[in-house]
Amino acid sequence: MRILFAGDIVGKRGREVLAKHLPSLKAQYEPDFVIVNGENAAHGKGITKKIYNSFVSLGADVITMGNHTFSNDNLLTFIGEADRLVTPANRDPDKPSRPVKFLEYQGKKIAVFNLVGEIFMDPVTESPAAALERLIREYPADLRIVDFHAEATSEKAILLRLFYDRVSLIVGTHTHVQTADECVYKGCAFISDIGMCGGYDSIIGRDTQEILERVKTGKHTHFVPADTPGIFSAVVVDFNDETCRAESIRRIQIRPEEPKPGFRNADKVTFWIDNPSFPGIHTAKDLYEALSGIWCRETCAPRMREEWTPENKTLGQCSVTAFLCQDIFGGEVYGVPLEDGNYHCFNVVEGEVFDLTSEQFTGKDLVYTRAYPQSRKTHFAKEEKRLRYELLRQKLIEKIS
Ligand SMILES: [Fe+2]
Repeated sequence: MRILFAGDIVGKRGREVLAKHLPSLKAQYEPDFVIVNGENAAHGKGITKKIYNSFVSLGADVITMGNHTFSNDNLLTFIGEADRLVTPANRDPDKPSRPVKFLEYQGKKIAVFNLVGEIFMDPVTESPAAALERLIREYPADLRIVDFHAEATSEKAILLRLFYDRVSLIVGTHTHVQTADECVYKGCAFISDIGMCGGYDSIIGRDTQEILERVKTGKHTHFVPADTPGIFSAVVVDFNDETCRAESIRRIQIRPEEPKPGFRNADKVTFWIDNPSFPGIHTAKDLYEALSGIWCRETCAPRMREEWTPENKTLGQCSVTAFLCQDIFGGEVYGVPLEDGNYHCFNVVEGEVFDLTSEQFTGKDLVYTRAYPQSRKTHFAKEEKRLRYELLRQKLIEKIS
């Protein structure tokens, strides 16, 4: 028998990445059962009926939870009929619970349990070990699986040593970072943490900027899930059909493709410059990446402002960007004449030609060899352009300091 167990699904990006990868992984590994941890599925906290049903439609046979089980009240409206859900057996004593999900495989009875840890976690009603002893007594089965939703690696390792002879799979969830300690310990498969399905460029699935803001200012924030391309994390575990003991455990981790810098000649520029006024910005790629989170409607030329979107972030940003780039790296600013009489500005540094705002022209061919030197004085004679340049520069300095 084979089980695929996917780690904590965090918010929309986590749900997307599950929907994206699960069908092909099911075709590849042919698991008999799929288990997912859904405690962060609804915007990072809890689960809703709609999300529960979407996991069922994707083929989840069991959905385990954790410390956020009841963070979204919507669960209370359907927990009675959510027969694939398993909730932690040692917390939330005043809430309805689903302490076990039974599965059947070739006449064998499989029990899936969910526990939360007590180290660096909210208070529990029963220690994980005592709760698991009780569950084993109350729900006899041939094969037992435990999702141990806990913070401390040591606590997870302890549970394995206490229960390896009566449980065939203990997976850790909750930390959102996949560990490389998967093993089969005397017939019990184990991993300290499966890792998450959620925004990869994040702080354990949460929005980085929001968390940095909280750390820097001490302000209360909401821990919104990161809206970045998702990572998928799971394990595939094989069990002996006769003995019901684990035979192997494999980690799966699918990271999003590294985003490639989208500017012209990104792969050709090699200069590296240290300008103490702009710490951390040494290459054209550094500057492009920093500006990618800064370019906005306010820094866009007024005539294009209506059409500006985050997807077309470089629209109307060329001259202010090129002169800011010159502040940092030196070199020259050139302009390609456009049909409307304006110039599209780009940079030449140490003889290397690159164009940080070329993405707005995707599909069009600009002739960079027919370009003319651009003067700061002429461009900034327009007060509104000078102000946009000042704003872009100010935002960059704030970001890197
Ligand atoms: Fe958690």
